[in-house]
Amino acid sequence: MSVESIIKERRSIRKFADQAVPDHLMQELFNRAAVSCDPQMLQSMRLIIALQNESKNRLSHYMLDSFTATRMGKLIPRSVKETMAKFFSEVPGLLVIVVDDHDSQQQKDMHYANACFFLQNLQLLAWEKGIGMFWRSDEMLYTKPFFEQLGISDRERLVGILLFGFIEKTPRPRKRTPASKKWLHWPQI
Ligand SMILES: Cc1cc2nc3c(=O)[nH]c(=O)nc-3n(C[C@H](O)[C@H](O)[C@H](O)COP(=O)(O)O)c2cc1C
Repeated sequence: MSVESIIKERRSIRKFADQAVPDHLMQELFNRAAVSCDPQMLQSMRLIIALQNESKNRLSHYMLDSFTATRMGKLIPRSVKETMAKFFSEVPGLLVIVVDDHDSQQQKDMHYANACFFLQNLQLLAWEKGIGMFWRSDEMLYTKPFFEQLGISDRERLVGILLFGFIEKTPRPRKRTPASKKWLHWPQI
């Protein structure tokens, strides 16, 4: 598969095969994804991985509690929230990405941007191995109790939680605005 075809074909995966993802495979992918990243980034980023049922259950319970505490979460029936938590607990793996967030604004932006760079590498390399991912940044993940339960300090920023697993179903490609429509030659005459 060429880089271009992986970029083109990769989709956010919501349906995963009922198959465990080996820990060593994820570690290999982390190492490969980090190889071209800024070395400083590795100092400022933390990856928390949940592969065991017990860890995933705990994490999804924390999410459920957190969701219940949000303004939006209060309006949603408990059954819907539980379905969501069940979905999170049943995916083969969960990856929490955290970066340092206590320096100058420029440094904070760098840390966040570097983590996104790493995650894009990771998603593309995983795709090549038949592993799909689904990046989540829901409101419920950004509450103080959730951070405390996960051990995320107030000097850190949550980049997101990636659900991952071997791909069961790939969604159809979505129509995109061609990037050329967004280009602007400067200065305009
Ligand atoms: C930074 C980031 C955060 C995202 N957060 C969410 C989210 O909270 N909930 C969700 O349903 N999808 C989330 N997504 C997935 C996007 O909605 C998805 O990438 C988009 O639908 C494009 O689909 P594709 O990845 O299949 O091309 C996120 C994606 C990115 C890059």
